[in-house]
Amino acid sequence: MISTVKEIEREAQEKLGQIQSAEDLEGFRVLYLGRKGKLQALMMQIKTLEGEGKKEFGREVNQLKKFLEESVQNLKGRFEGQSGEKESFDETLPGIIPSVGTLHPINETILEIIKVFEKLGFEIVDGPEIETEFHNFTALNIPLDHPSRDSFDTFYTAGKQLLRSQTSTVQIRIMQDRKPPLRLIAPGRVYRPDTVDASHSFMFHQIEGLMVDDKTTFSDLKGVLHLFFREFFGKETKIRFRPHFFPFTEPSVEVDIRWGKKGWLEILGAGMVDPNVFDAVGYDSKKVQGFAFGLGVERIAMLRHGIPDIRLFYENDLRFLRQFR
Ligand code: DAH
Repeated sequence: MISTVKEIEREAQEKLGQIQSAEDLEGFRVLYLGRKGKLQALMMQIKTLEGEGKKEFGREVNQLKKFLEESVQNLKGRFEGQSGEKESFDETLPGIIPSVGTLHPINETILEIIKVFEKLGFEIVDGPEIETEFHNFTALNIPLDHPSRDSFDTFYTAGKQLLRSQTSTVQIRIMQDRKPPLRLIAPGRVYRPDTVDASHSFMFHQIEGLMVDDKTTFSDLKGVLHLFFREFFGKETKIRFRPHFFPFTEPSVEVDIRWGKKGWLEILGAGMVDPNVFDAVGYDSKKVQGFAFGLGVERIAMLRHGIPDIRLFYENDLRFLRQFR
């Protein structure tokens, strides 16, 4: 009888050495300590014995029980925390990729344009979108009977104010506040009651530029714009200056860019700041001179990325927006 206990112990010891996981350990526990396990079978045998033999056998079986229980307890600690959790966590699976936003193509274009002008020493400024007639028209030398003042062309608010129809308003605000020299860029939203179609929207973005000191000339304007276009669209970019009229500049030009098969495309308006504008902001128009320009951001973004319809910018369709980084 006793030899059976020893045999079981030896066999158990060997099995203990092979245990590698919580599962192995559980198998071992059931085999030896389970309700129908080997230890239980030995316990049953005790009852069949009597006298000295029963005592000795009982002692041996108890020792074995202690040994088995302690071994299982010790190994349990080693596999704790690894069971269950360990098996459900597969570190070879790809992680959860957080969805990262991208810049809107309009903001991206504004930032790229700003980058070029920053290199040329231009400062970035902004102004309010709700404006006065003075800042949007009067100070910019736009006469009272000019069609752009009509309510068909400008959104008016209840209290004699309006949604600015051009970023040229920021020229006026900064000049009212500060003395020359000035070199600034003002990006922002503008509003016009246009019927929405592939190339028009009631809201779009412009970037205004202004440079003023006592000697700024038309050559400076040409030089700055040439540099800008070459930096922005590439060294081979061809531009041309066409005479034009704007109330706030004299002389005025429109600048066209050569765009492959499409030919010359109008891209911005510019000119030398009209003396009437300087007078309106309290500058001495005999002592200062400067240039201004204004460009439409949507138009440039559409050209750059080959976007056929302005409405795509405002629909918030992620299939469209995700194409831009
Ligand atoms: N404000 C003009 C527009 O909205 C654009 C413009 C043209 C701005 C000539 C200027 C400029 O500063 O000199 O059409």
